[in-house]
Amino acid sequence: MSQPPSTRVLPHELPASLRDAGLDHWIREPLADAFDRRRRIIMPPAVAVLGTPSSGYQGALLAEAKHADTVFMMGDNPALPTMPERPSLRDFYLLRFGPIPRMHLLQSARVARENGLDEKVIMACLLHDIAIAGLVPANHGYWGAQLVAPYVDEEVAWAIEKHEALRYFPDESVGYSYPAAYIDYFGPDYEPPAYIRREAEAARRHRWYMTSRLVTINDIYSLDPNVLVAFDDFSDVVGRNFRQPAEGLGFDGSPVAHMWRTMIWPNNFL
Ligand SMILES: [Fe+2]
Ligand SMILES: [Fe+2]
Repeated sequence: MSQPPSTRVLPHELPASLRDAGLDHWIREPLADAFDRRRRIIMPPAVAVLGTPSSGYQGALLAEAKHADTVFMMGDNPALPTMPERPSLRDFYLLRFGPIPRMHLLQSARVARENGLDEKVIMACLLHDIAIAGLVPANHGYWGAQLVAPYVDEEVAWAIEKHEALRYFPDESVGYSYPAAYIDYFGPDYEPPAYIRREAEAARRHRWYMTSRLVTINDIYSLDPNVLVAFDDFSDVVGRNFRQPAEGLGFDGSPVAHMWRTMIWPNNFL
């Protein structure tokens, strides 16, 4: 009698190349929650591994998929909470975004509200780093602006896009200095690239400059653990400033629906 396929490859029987690379983390074993008792391999996306040792293991992961009991992850990853059929912005905050970026966004929006700022600014603060929270950090202002552009006022999307460049450039006239956190992140000698400098200079001349600048001013880094902010504290602001599609984010056929689907199923092989 042959063993059931699900037990054919145990963790300690993983190919040494995968085990040595710690790649068993990319493979879901045939746990009880694997409905068809097949292992699911997660191929890390190129943006996560290019330039890292993990990029060398693509071949080994591809070879694993040749086993009859092994497939690539497609659809719901049981390690993630299942999203509703028609996900709302709130569902992404609660079911996909990690606790640190989620709290950063909520605290930033809270500070903006306490400062008595316009709802557009509060909304932009609430959304400004959603690309870091759920998609990809590099160029996050641009990814984030695209994600929300069909659903918010043009000024909000613009402010989100430009906050990335404006963060690097102080404007003492409105009390904004270079972030101390960036000295930790990038070192004291970091110079933003020319395109970022150009973007910031152009943004500064734009009529919506102050909207984006206010996002940077309220872009707080100290996460006070005693200040708990809930997404629902902003349901009024979101209700007035975010046009939630009836079909759900990811399924409304908009030009950015695929970006929301990528956050729903971030581990899909294709
Ligand atoms: Fe940001
Ligand atoms: Fe931020």
